[in-house]
Amino acid sequence: MIRTMPTQKESRQPQAPALPPVWSGRAAPESSAPAERPAAAPPASAGQPDAGPLASSERPAVEPLPGFAAFARLVQQLIGLDLTAYNPRQLYRRLRGQLERVGCRSLEEYGLLLRRSPEQVEALRDFLTINVSEFFRNAPFWRTLADRILPELLAAGNTRIWSAGCSIGAEPYSLAILLEEAMAPATAHIIATDVDEKALAEARTAIYPSSLLHEVSPARLQRFFTPAGPDRWQVKEEVRRRVQLRRHDLLQDPYPIGLNLIVCRNVIIYFNEEAKQRVYRRLAQSLRPGGILFVGATEAILSPAQFGLSPAGPFFYRRDARPTGSS
Ligand SMILES: C[S@@+](CC[C@H](N)C(=O)[O-])C[C@H]1O[C@@H](n2cnc3c(N)ncnc32)[C@H](O)[C@@H]1O
Repeated sequence: MIRTMPTQKESRQPQAPALPPVWSGRAAPESSAPAERPAAAPPASAGQPDAGPLASSERPAVEPLPGFAAFARLVQQLIGLDLTAYNPRQLYRRLRGQLERVGCRSLEEYGLLLRRSPEQVEALRDFLTINVSEFFRNAPFWRTLADRILPELLAAGNTRIWSAGCSIGAEPYSLAILLEEAMAPATAHIIATDVDEKALAEARTAIYPSSLLHEVSPARLQRFFTPAGPDRWQVKEEVRRRVQLRRHDLLQDPYPIGLNLIVCRNVIIYFNEEAKQRVYRRLAQSLRPGGILFVGATEAILSPAQFGLSPAGPFFYRRDARPTGSS
């Protein structure tokens, strides 16, 4: 039976809308693995291409960060993030910078500070989940989506879309604008998820500064936004109603199934290699045969076949008809 199975955290969110029937209460096979939680995301501009396991093994070993294991346990306890699932190279570098900023000489000292200061915990949470985003980010690929991919998916029937790691909502609302322009039936909708409650709260307001709208044409601005104060614009209700926002951890929670399109951009790049492999496999399993995965412009998948995916244009992958992992 397809049903919703909220996590403990989700059940504390009265404002979260009910999940559509595509959401599976079943955990994907990998979810029986030890629970993992997300962690740091450096600014998108700092992202490197997804070099894959081979390239990473050729790099020099990461210099260990003294006290990291105990610090990661504390962060898991205080913030619910599993720092161990993220790229250690980026994470250690950022944590070293954070130590300097807060004036601590070691992670141990920083841990003591965090234990007595809720403000510092909040500051660390903000530091770890970076929400850089904008409407129609990397515009040429959104044109491919609008002109080639979406019409094909819509022609095939009911369109179920997942924006995974949606941050403040610019990505799912960009998708909803495309659905409106394509005059997609009301049943075509977007599940938009992120691990960061603060980002989701911002997404719910659907109000954005002009700086995040520079890829939005004047015609689109006029049609899909209303002014909301100096230099601020709100996404119109007709667009917002296609988007259902809720908290979801890509490293731990059950995945929706039967999707036609998954947009997961500029998120997986921050995971460690083992977590990347697992998440790609699970995303592929969430797609219907023929469904499309759209990844970030620095996240090309080197061997998509291992996940049951085939290239369908730069940064687009199509799920094969065969079950993922079959030979
Ligand atoms: C750089 S933003 C990308 C936003 C959007 N996808 C885009 O490309 O513009 C990365 C987002 O991933 C989210 N994130 C990090 N780890 C996550 C996880 N384990 N599960 C879900 N979201 C995660 C962060 O909270 C952040 O909002």
